[in-house]
Amino acid sequence: MTGTPEKHAENWDLRHADFNDNDFLYDVYSVMRGNGPFARTDKPFLPSNPEGAWVAVGYAECVQILQDWEHFSSNPTPEGAERLTGDLVITLDPPRQQKFRKVLNPYFSPARMKALRPEIGTETDRLIDEFIEDGAGDLAEVAWRQPGIVFFKFLLGMPVDDVPLCVELTDTALNGATEQDRMTAWGGLYRHLHDAVTARLDQPPRDDMIDVLLAAEIDGEKLAFGDVVSNAMLLVQAGLETTASAMSFAYHYLATNPAERDRLIAEPDLLPRAVEEFIRFAGSIHGIPRTVAKDVEVSGCQFAPGESMIVNYASANRDEQQFPDADRCILDRRENRHLGFGAGVHRCLGSNLARLEFQVGLERVLTRMPDFILAPDRQAKFHGNSVTRGFRSVPVVFTASERSR
Ligand code: HEM
Repeated sequence: MTGTPEKHAENWDLRHADFNDNDFLYDVYSVMRGNGPFARTDKPFLPSNPEGAWVAVGYAECVQILQDWEHFSSNPTPEGAERLTGDLVITLDPPRQQKFRKVLNPYFSPARMKALRPEIGTETDRLIDEFIEDGAGDLAEVAWRQPGIVFFKFLLGMPVDDVPLCVELTDTALNGATEQDRMTAWGGLYRHLHDAVTARLDQPPRDDMIDVLLAAEIDGEKLAFGDVVSNAMLLVQAGLETTASAMSFAYHYLATNPAERDRLIAEPDLLPRAVEEFIRFAGSIHGIPRTVAKDVEVSGCQFAPGESMIVNYASANRDEQQFPDADRCILDRRENRHLGFGAGVHRCLGSNLARLEFQVGLERVLTRMPDFILAPDRQAKFHGNSVTRGFRSVPVVFTASERSR
């Protein structure tokens, strides 16, 4: 550790090497919240503002900002806008943003999700089959591959063989060591999706999200081709790493807390609540920027047009004012209005899908390898000083059993 929590709290830098330790990052958040609801960073990790940004770290302030899109716009600053490749649902404000959501929403409806449950079970089983007979395996493989396979195969309409490349490009784009690495990976992902969408232009329509975007009309106009590609790219990015890192965290937690694992097996009705708690606790997203659009005051602090604000969902989710015993993962936590999926007009479009993938991912592992524990002779690998944080390896041992097919 090169800095104290107090030092890091003065100028938060999520990519700092010290934050490869998850507990330490949350110690820093605790100091930041103790100093007041808004901290500063001169190293915003997404294209934002060369002058740095405010960081909202308290739960109440984050909720207020997320619900007030008229003062806290999702439009980027001019510096951020230069890097955008199209009109994205996540960087628009209502009313246009709501029209984009209307296009995509039916794909995430509860009925559609319910119908997917058996398919997700089969895909998860297939991944577990790769090591179930060995009595040893890596649960990070399930966490990192299952969401991509499910999303590409059943919703987006991209070949499943593309998943590893897209996961790798997304990962480097978000977490690459240098700005150059990250920009190159963004470019690679854009080109890949550009080619995939172009190939679809000559094919008969199918019932998937790429076709829905290609056919969509907003205010009587079809979406520009670049907007179709950019939104497909957003979906890939939003849907893969977030779910994967939270699920990897849950597998690690259960592999190192066998009593909690046994409790979930004995009380399967707890699963939905446990998934919410894992999402609160694992902290998939540490911040997404807003731009101040009009003079505004929040909790006695004044903000002026053009300033950047990073909403730190992960810190808000550990705010003791909202979550008693916030630094404990309590699988049956009752009051859990976490901000893991955000709030307000941009609340996560894929939350129903993420919850389902997560629940089925846990259910299948708990059913098929009920005594799994962290392999005593191997180390789990956590990747932390990055935008998405989770385990890249969760080596486990368990009683071997048969493949599902
Ligand atoms: C555990 C998994 C996930 C977490 C923690 C998560 C978190 C979030 C958060 C915090 C936001 C709000 C962003 C903002 O305030 O600007 C968001 C938006 C979004 N998420 Fe997720 N997400 C997850 C999974 C998914 C999945 C599986 C998909 C789709 C495949 C998805 C698609 C989206 C989209 C399209 C938006 C933008 C919505 C809008 O701007 O109106 N997410 N997500």
